[in-house]
Amino acid sequence: MSEPVKLSVVYYSSTGNIAEIANALVAEAEAAGAEVRLRRAPELAPDAAVDSNPAWRAHLEATRSVPEVTAEDVVWADAVLFGSPTRYGNIAAQLKQFIDSLGGEWQQGLLADKAYSGFTSSATQHGGQESTLLALYNSIHHFGGIIVSPGYTDGSKFVDGNPYGTSHVDAQGEIKVGEQTRTAAAVQAKRVVRVAAALKGAA
Ligand SMILES: Cc1cc2nc3c(=O)[nH]c(=O)nc-3n(C[C@H](O)[C@H](O)[C@H](O)COP(=O)(O)O)c2cc1C
Repeated sequence: MSEPVKLSVVYYSSTGNIAEIANALVAEAEAAGAEVRLRRAPELAPDAAVDSNPAWRAHLEATRSVPEVTAEDVVWADAVLFGSPTRYGNIAAQLKQFIDSLGGEWQQGLLADKAYSGFTSSATQHGGQESTLLALYNSIHHFGGIIVSPGYTDGSKFVDGNPYGTSHVDAQGEIKVGEQTRTAAAVQAKRVVRVAAALKGAA
């Protein structure tokens, strides 16, 4: 029997939306037969900033048990799903800081030839989800990674409308991750596991 696909879900989340999607992706990837690691990028913001938003502080404390990501979690994986909230149309510094710590692994070619995909969340509908995912994918090009975007490969993508990756609009914390986003996560996780298995088989 062939080895299962090894998949790392690496995310940063301040107030829980991205963490919620990350957990949905973990469940779907496991259901698709992958061996999965869930990892969070460490919080870098000063306590004063975290404490300025009670939801941020509560989420940080509630997720302390999620292991912090290390370079080995990326090197180990056949596929990596990176998640970040939109920050002014870009990825969060906390996730970028982790990506920027991977220079040594990049130089050794240890980030190449894997399947990568991204997920995001924003407060508003046209608030920069696509630019955030495209910004993330800039780094994946430099890794020599294989970007596995969902595209419109499933009928549900014509409803959620984001071919770049799973995304959610939280309306300033008013809207929780719901069925549409969970469906998108299922489509993305299955596709990434399927493509990663094919890449693994071809290696
Ligand atoms: C500094 C900062 C910048 C943000 N920039 C944007 C933005 O450009 N567009 C947008 O729609 N939402 C923006 N947001 C809102 C978050 O992206 C949004 O609330 C997201 O769903 C939070 O995800 P989380 O719950 O996983 O932290 C920003 C939030 C912060 C704190």
